[in-house]
Amino acid sequence: MPRFPLSAPSAQGLSDRVFGQLVRKSGTQTLYPLHVGDTYLEPLALARAEAQTTEARPRLHNYSPVQGEPELVTAIVNKVQRRSGVRLDPSCVQVMSGATAGMGVVCTALLEPGDEVLLPSPFWPLIRGIVRARGAVPVEVPLFTRLHEPGFDAVAALEAAITPRTAAIYVNTPHNPTGATLPEAVLSGIAALAKRHDLWVLCDEVYEDVWFGPSAPPSVFARPDFAERTIATHSVSKAYGLAGARIGYSHGPAEIMEVVRGVQTFYSYCAPRPMQFGAAQALDHGDAWLANMRKVYGSAGRAAAQALEIPEPEGGTFLFFDLQRHMRDGESLMQVLERCLEAGVMLTPGTASGKDFETWARLCFTVVPERELRQAVQLLRSVLGLG
Ligand SMILES: Cc1ncc(COP(=O)(O)O)c(C=O)c1O
Repeated sequence: MPRFPLSAPSAQGLSDRVFGQLVRKSGTQTLYPLHVGDTYLEPLALARAEAQTTEARPRLHNYSPVQGEPELVTAIVNKVQRRSGVRLDPSCVQVMSGATAGMGVVCTALLEPGDEVLLPSPFWPLIRGIVRARGAVPVEVPLFTRLHEPGFDAVAALEAAITPRTAAIYVNTPHNPTGATLPEAVLSGIAALAKRHDLWVLCDEVYEDVWFGPSAPPSVFARPDFAERTIATHSVSKAYGLAGARIGYSHGPAEIMEVVRGVQTFYSYCAPRPMQFGAAQALDHGDAWLANMRKVYGSAGRAAAQALEIPEPEGGTFLFFDLQRHMRDGESLMQVLERCLEAGVMLTPGTASGKDFETWARLCFTVVPERELRQAVQLLRSVLGLG
């Protein structure tokens, strides 16, 4: 039907200002931009853009196969086996232009407009828009901030939100933004619920290597109770410090991955070829880099959490905390975040991670080195009246 001069209704409300109005106000001079999840660490030398040369790889800048460079697909199969103990059939792997685009492709492959997707909240700010961009409906279920509430039943809360239109559930652990890892009992409950209601599971493995406990948390997609209905999406952005490379990958049951590959063909055709080689190097040779990353991120996360007097993160790159007790009478979330910004620290409003988080904020503890992070957190302490 004619629509000019309007855009598609499903695209209205999507905005590049996912982190709120503050970014516009801040200009480019923010001392401590702790609102976006990025890193100060340079990636493994072999994985960097400048390490990929036309001399070493003729036609470096050509297209790759839609599925991805065979060298990267092999590196992915080996990495998944090492990290998660699962031997993937290479045909079940699809290289994506980052996990953001990857999730979009997976949503297009699995969802119809009008389908509902359960989003345990708070959540990674982009997932809500990805679901909406498909014309599907994000259904927010407050969960991660309630995990330790006495008597809270996470699975019952999710089940109460299911309707005949529910098609999928999004599962992200270790988690952006709370830094939590989902307990075994909750995961078993989610698996049973997904089976009972014939749901797909969109498993977000972006922080699979960013954990601070004694050992890696088990991978959700590797559990037998998830395997048949899970599309897992990974990325080299976070764990390997390669966010600008735009390389991610998805895998799942063979028949559905055929469809995913078909959709990918019409989105970006293939991921950036030079950086597919970089990503393969990171996956093949990055284990020591990962160990150091966990050490420095874990230390930074603990230091920031202690200074803010909140629980320490189990993984991921964020802290998520309630500012209510620090808000002046009648003060809005934006006003308190503006006070933080005036002191030089930009945080993400909690509402970017769900409508129920109107007094919450997110802080990324990996954007600047720990020494600077400690200074930023001291500034926050004085703005918030912590001493
Ligand atoms: C939970 C989660 N999933 C996916 C992504 C997107 O990753 P990519 O950079 O590969 O698009 C992010 C990035 O912040 C994230 O935090």
